[in-house]
Amino acid sequence: MSKETFFITTPIYYPSDKLHIGHTYCTVATDAIARYKRLRGYDVMFLTGTDEHGQKIEEKAKEAGVTPQAFVDRIVEGPGGILDLWKLMNISNDRFIRTTYDYHVAAIQRIFRKMYDNGDIYKGAYKGKYCTPCESFWTESQLVNGCCPDCGRPVHDAEEEAYFFRLSKYAKPVQDLLESGTFLEPASRVNEMINNFIKPGLEDLCVSRTSFTWGVPVDFDPGHVVYVWVDALFNYATALGYMNDKYHDFDRFWPPVNIVGKEIVRFHSIIWPAMLMSVGEPVPKKVYGHGWLVIDGGKMSKSKGNVVDPYLLAEKFGVDALRFFLLRTFPFGSDGNFSNELLISTINSDLANAFGNLVSRTTAMVEKYFGGTLPAEREADAQDDELLNLVKETPARYAKQMDAFQLHLGLEEVFRLIGRANKYIDETTPWILAKDEEKRPRLAAVMANLLEAIRVSLILLTPFIPDTCARAFDQIGATEAERTWESLSAVRGHEITVRKGETLFPRIDTEKMLAELEAMHKPATPPAKPVLPDVTIDEFAKCDMRVVKILTCEAVKKSEKLLKFTLDDGSGTERQILSGIHKFYEPEQLVGKKVVAILNLPPRKMMGLESNGMLLSAVKEDEKGNEVLHLMIVGDDVPVGAQLC
Ligand code: MSP
Repeated sequence: MSKETFFITTPIYYPSDKLHIGHTYCTVATDAIARYKRLRGYDVMFLTGTDEHGQKIEEKAKEAGVTPQAFVDRIVEGPGGILDLWKLMNISNDRFIRTTYDYHVAAIQRIFRKMYDNGDIYKGAYKGKYCTPCESFWTESQLVNGCCPDCGRPVHDAEEEAYFFRLSKYAKPVQDLLESGTFLEPASRVNEMINNFIKPGLEDLCVSRTSFTWGVPVDFDPGHVVYVWVDALFNYATALGYMNDKYHDFDRFWPPVNIVGKEIVRFHSIIWPAMLMSVGEPVPKKVYGHGWLVIDGGKMSKSKGNVVDPYLLAEKFGVDALRFFLLRTFPFGSDGNFSNELLISTINSDLANAFGNLVSRTTAMVEKYFGGTLPAEREADAQDDELLNLVKETPARYAKQMDAFQLHLGLEEVFRLIGRANKYIDETTPWILAKDEEKRPRLAAVMANLLEAIRVSLILLTPFIPDTCARAFDQIGATEAERTWESLSAVRGHEITVRKGETLFPRIDTEKMLAELEAMHKPATPPAKPVLPDVTIDEFAKCDMRVVKILTCEAVKKSEKLLKFTLDDGSGTERQILSGIHKFYEPEQLVGKKVVAILNLPPRKMMGLESNGMLLSAVKEDEKGNEVLHLMIVGDDVPVGAQLC
């Protein structure tokens, strides 16, 4: 019988810059799932790749003075590039797609034409806000304070010819799909999609651009290039040979499980199934929207200068330690706060102490007491039952979590077993048994039980830390056949020869390592701006700036930038202020904080909502000239309503 297939993908990453730990997190998680499925006997196709077209890449290449193709080639295939990163991180992808590959470009043209021919793509006029200096269209919701979000200058209404996809036609089937159960997970994201995007009404989607050229040309209408998301989403299909002859395994593997970050769940759970319905292909089996790695509760971004480099961490801590940390620490569906301290403490407590110690103590004892080879004659005892039961039960419990992509909970099960095995050493006191020649069969049983707990743990840890597990299997003398899922329930009654090897995870000196990491991250300080011309004290005093407390904060629907705040300003009535700072803060970071606002600016409308004042921030350019914003958060001891003077 042929094996059941399993097709899993990561998002295809933008090669606009080097990838950071967030991208690495997603790829490592997907890799662990792919490896787990292979362990379970599935015929797995694991796809990752790069999303190489679009205006941003075109601009970056221009800045760098090279062609867009040369620019992306260097980031994807050059030294220290994306392919190198995945090799370093031991990513087991079966295929890698670049959207600039000829076969993909040709397939996208055919897909676009197919949707045009079936009436789902039509020509219309794209109306929007146009920024002339930036040559860019923006939607109302993208504007910041009514101006261009890139350069801050005024925009004007403009119109341009464009192709549209009839997304509105698919609102109902997409909503049904979202509500049908397990298409989109975690379940919490389903309501978010329905309430924020489907209920307010799905509009047709503009799927071509004429304002830049770095993209897939619409072959029947020169001057238009295909909107990057159409080009990007269909990578999952073209990489299997859909609408092209490069590969021929679409029928074998379709549909996919798409693992994506939460910010692109909308594209994957609304636009993507609608387009698949349009071309008559099955929708994904599942879209899983994982959480973000954040730093100090906020987004990681080049402009904030807090981007964490996976190369550096892998070099300092080892690839498996880094892979393990990412998947053990953060629940896959939620955001996680990255810190070097947490990384070091996880490695020390789980990998060096609990896991590494168990392996090294056990193999050292088998060497010391039995010269390395455990005899087959063993004497069981009721004392063993608890450990042996856990050895037996853990795989099924682990599988349940892994099948639901709850990777951290899968690891939790393994570490329960490892912890129990360490306790078993203390309970059985092998060093005392070793003193009595008559207790040798009992001592052999204790050692065999420990080796069994280790062997089972290693099988289950293989998707997470494959290289370390291979070394540890060698140390405990496990044959190839004893490393498989099928062998989990087998008992090793035969003689076992161990080979004590190198320490798997040396303990890290926290202080020393933190100091080393710190020294590598000295940020460059950009020059200060000149001081502005004088104002009089009276002019200054006209600004009514007060300390206010944030009562609620939420993202404004359909806006990428705006946050809506209700504030206690000390007057007894709540005040509403809108602020375009979502790029820098998530709402949950801000609720309860005291900040400074100017209250006597005239009210102004943004996205149909009124803003009565402005939150004050400190803004400075980083070394790349990007503005970094810090909200003026004041100490809790400053009373609400206190006036700045
Ligand atoms: N090119 C699009 C995706 C197209 S898929 C058809 C894109 N690329 S991206 O380079 O911005 O990468 C996005 C993905 O990287 C996210 O969806 C997420 O999986 C991962 N991450 C990027 N930053 C992240 C964090 N800070 N934390 C966790 N994952 C993050 O969007």
